[in-house]
Amino acid sequence: MCGIIGYTGDDDAIPYLIDGIKNLEYRGYDSFGCAFELKGAIEVRKDAGKIEDVLSRYGISQFSAPKAIFHTRWATHGSVKKENAHPLLDCTGMIAVVHNGIIENWAELKSSLGSHRFVSDTDTEVLAHMVEDEMRAGNSLSDAVKNVFGRIKGSSSFLVMNQRTEELVAVKKGSPLVLGLGKHGTFISSDVPSFIAYTNKVVYLYDGDLVSIWKNKYEIDNLLDKNVTHKVAKVNLTVKDAEKGSHSHFMIKEIMEQPGLIKKLTAGGFGEVEKAAGLVKNARTTYLVGAGTSFHVARLGTRILREFGIVSVPIQGQDITTFGKVIKPDDVFVIISQSGETADLINALPMMKNNKKIGIMNSEESTLAKAVDILIPIGAGPEKAVAATKSFTLSSIYMCLLAAFAAGEKNKALHDLNLLDINLYNQLVPSVYSTIEKAAYRLKRMESVYFLGRDYDFIIALEAALKLKEISYIHAEAIDAATFKHGPLALVSDNTYLVAVVSDKSYDQTIYNLEEIKARSGKIIGISNRNAKAFDVFIRTQDAGMFSFVMQTIILQLLAYRISVLRGLDPDRPKNLAKSVTVK
Ligand code: G6P
Repeated sequence: MCGIIGYTGDDDAIPYLIDGIKNLEYRGYDSFGCAFELKGAIEVRKDAGKIEDVLSRYGISQFSAPKAIFHTRWATHGSVKKENAHPLLDCTGMIAVVHNGIIENWAELKSSLGSHRFVSDTDTEVLAHMVEDEMRAGNSLSDAVKNVFGRIKGSSSFLVMNQRTEELVAVKKGSPLVLGLGKHGTFISSDVPSFIAYTNKVVYLYDGDLVSIWKNKYEIDNLLDKNVTHKVAKVNLTVKDAEKGSHSHFMIKEIMEQPGLIKKLTAGGFGEVEKAAGLVKNARTTYLVGAGTSFHVARLGTRILREFGIVSVPIQGQDITTFGKVIKPDDVFVIISQSGETADLINALPMMKNNKKIGIMNSEESTLAKAVDILIPIGAGPEKAVAATKSFTLSSIYMCLLAAFAAGEKNKALHDLNLLDINLYNQLVPSVYSTIEKAAYRLKRMESVYFLGRDYDFIIALEAALKLKEISYIHAEAIDAATFKHGPLALVSDNTYLVAVVSDKSYDQTIYNLEEIKARSGKIIGISNRNAKAFDVFIRTQDAGMFSFVMQTIILQLLAYRISVLRGLDPDRPKNLAKSVTVK
């Protein structure tokens, strides 16, 4: 999704914001642009393409300015082209706007701005012209933004720079915004890692916040709720956490962080899980809500709760309205989200307004985190690769702990968690890496790959298929091994590759299904703790009781990563995708 960063202060804004916007690249984007003051006028440099390319094409680093706004665009309204990149200007060229969100009534607003000159196909451009009208009517920049905010529909956060004023003004609704309070100036940004190199003093913003920033002060007025209060927080993030370090990509850095994060998790601190388990235990039905990878966590959660005799239903955010007649007040929701900003889930919140809500989330200051009654933070740290890896495993582990605690199986869960911690180190050994590499070489030229598994293994296959299609652009499809004979078997030829996830629980039955595929010349990569005749390539996993799926998952993440790299792609920045989807 779009990334926003602005700075005003005594120091030169340009180097800060070049660095800052690169740290927002992970959100996914197709164009980059900036606006800054030059000799009393606002200069805009922008284009479609990568930040680095646009920066060097327009020599942006040679400029210096006391205030500036930078933006990465992920197209929603209007194609990917220079004119549609942000910032967008008003008719006078003195007001520049960057925006993250969607203005639902933009067409109507645009037709009321008939005398203005529009140069883009974006919804954002109406904001610049509306602020222009408001300021011409004698309003301050802040009042202008406030009045404009009152007229737009939808979820929109935007930041405005006016050539005549020192301050930058922004308003937040939906998409995240946070202030960074530096020694010599103030930042406003979509995310903390973009300015963490300069300050760890932050103020998280809430929906409805109208904020003005100067070099050494800020003012916030919540337009939706007068009771909202703000405090300055110190974040524990370091520059190292937000960088790749010696790794080639964020994705591999984040995959390799998993053993350490799991070790940290075993050290305890399950108070929130205990509290949440109390709610699940007494619920009529527990609904598990998520999107993308987090929906796979929801499916896994439902399966494990069922094993413990607890009724639950996984729901994708956009489907929640179809449950209108079945949701009762004594039902409980578990919302799973890495970012806590996914629009499909935020839009589902009104349907849960009478119910207790538990969050399993990575971003503790996100919109969804603020909306739940009990938050279980997964503590994964920044996840910058678009493809979710460590957030999937940690959310899944917390989901399993929640299920086990609710069922009175805490001891078993903690026992298996220790087993996971120990055996993970035995799994990540050179012989396993070399078989992953062998499998990656076999798959790298395929146009299509099937992922098979039964029961739990099928859910892991779904996640593995999603990972592969996201970062390799290979068509990847997960099919329940038990249903393969009911149709998909017709697809098998000697050029078909299948990746089979085979855990102990379903071993005999899955192997039986794989033999049927083998008899039709299909090639099989087996992920299992036991070899089988049916496997052409065997990647050995270790056991960890109820957490054995983590072992399989990490191998499948590494496999997808290697295939992407072998295909010459950038796994961190898959085309067309965004890390956090803040639009419907
Ligand atoms: C996007 C991302 C996925 C992610 C999904 C849900 O589609 O590309 O990787 O799984 O959003 O995100 P969340 O932050 O709610 O877990």
